[in-house]
Amino acid sequence: MIKLANKRVLLGVSGSIAAYKSAELVRLLRQQGAEVRVVMTATATEFVQPLTFQALSGNMVYSAWDDADRGDGMGHIELARWADAIIIAPASADLLARLRQGMANDLLTTLCLASDRMIAVAPAMNRLMWENAATQDNMAVLKQRGIHVLGPGTGGQACGEIGLGRMLEPDQLVQDISALFGSGILSGARLLLTAGPTREPIDAMRFLSNRSSGKMGYALAQAAIEAGADVTLISGPVALTAPARAKRRDVNSANEMYEAVMAEVPTHDIFISAAAVADYRPLEFSKEKVKRKANTIDLALTQNRDIVASVAALPNKPFVVGFAAETSDVERHARGKLQRKGLDMIAANQVGDGQGAEVDDNAMTLYWVEGSHHLEKTTKHKLARQMIAIIGEHYHAAT
Ligand code: CTP
Repeated sequence: MIKLANKRVLLGVSGSIAAYKSAELVRLLRQQGAEVRVVMTATATEFVQPLTFQALSGNMVYSAWDDADRGDGMGHIELARWADAIIIAPASADLLARLRQGMANDLLTTLCLASDRMIAVAPAMNRLMWENAATQDNMAVLKQRGIHVLGPGTGGQACGEIGLGRMLEPDQLVQDISALFGSGILSGARLLLTAGPTREPIDAMRFLSNRSSGKMGYALAQAAIEAGADVTLISGPVALTAPARAKRRDVNSANEMYEAVMAEVPTHDIFISAAAVADYRPLEFSKEKVKRKANTIDLALTQNRDIVASVAALPNKPFVVGFAAETSDVERHARGKLQRKGLDMIAANQVGDGQGAEVDDNAMTLYWVEGSHHLEKTTKHKLARQMIAIIGEHYHAAT
C-alpha cells in the first residue's frame, strides 16, 4: 500500500549535519506518494545545496524570505496552507528553541506559526545539547502544544560522541510520518460527504435554516484527504474554504442536497452525512415576498426526505456514517438513529451549553451495533483525524 498518497508534506530542513539524510527522506516520501516542498534555513544551505532538494522534490526550494513570493504563486501564507503537514527534519537545537518561543525570524519558523496543520520535528544534535535542560524544557513545551516529536535515536554522532541525539534514519521517519497521517488508511477510497446547514425557502427573501457552521464536515473532508481518500464534498451554505483537493458541489435546500447525493453516491465507497439537514421545509414557496399582515401567521411545513437513510437503503450502499446532535440521552437517541436509518456507524455528541454547532472544540462518541468509542473534547480538526482513523478501520473490516 502506498502510505502517503495525496499527502502534501512541507519538509523543513534546519542547520545540522544530518541535513544530508533528508535528501534520502525526500526520495522516500515521494516514493510513498507524497508531494514534497522543501524549506531550508540559512544554516541548512551551508550543509546541503538547495539544488539537491530541488532535484529530488521536483519543486523549487524555499529559503530566503522572498523565495516564497517568487513567481510560482506560492506566497508564504499559501505555502503554509498548501501543506497537510510540516515535518522538520533535521530539527536543530536552535530551531527547536525558536519554535518554542514562537519566533518568526526566518521563513521556516514563520510558516510554522502561520499553520494550523500537523507539525512534527525530528531532532538532531550532539547528545549534551539534547540532554541540556534548556532543550528538554523546549521539547516539553512543544509536545504540550501538540507538536509531534520523532526520535531522536541513539548511536554514534558526527562529533565522535555516542548517545541520544541522532536524527532517526529516513526509512524510520517515513514510517513514523505515515503513522501520524493515520497510515493512509483511506488510500484509494472514494468518500462522499455532506456538510453545513440547508436553507429551506419561504419566499424570495426568507428561508428556514440552522446554526450548523460546517466546520466538522470540512475538517472531516480535510482529514479524509490526509488519509488518502478522494473526497467529494456536498456543501450547504457556509463561510468556509473547501480543502483544495476536495471536489465541492454547493447546494442550498435539503431537496438539492438529496439530488446531489443520489447523483454522486454510486461512484463512492463511503458516505458521511455531516450536514445538518432541515427535517422540514415550507409546504409552499412564495415567489413574491410575503407581506406583513396579521399579528400571527401560520407556516405550514412538510417533511424532507431523509438523505442518509435513503443512501443506507440503496441495494449497493456504501459504508454509511451519520451524525446525531442531541441535547439529552445521547446514547439512546444515537443508537435509535443507527438502527432506524440502517447506518454502519453514528457519531453523536451533546449540544447546547456551549457545545456543538458553532464552537471549535467538541467531544464525540462513535457508536456501531456491537460497540462504541469515545473521543475526548479537542479541536474539530483533531477530532476529525481520530474519527477518520476509526471510520477507516471499520470500513476495511466491512469490505
Ligand atoms: N439527515 C439526513 N436527512 C434528513 C435529516 C437528517 O440525511 N432529512 C441526517 C443528518 O445528516 C445526520 C443524521 O441524519 O447524519 C441525523 O440527523 P438528525 O436531524 O439528528 O436526525 P433526525 O432523524 O431528524 O432526528 P431528530 O428527531 O432528532 O431530529
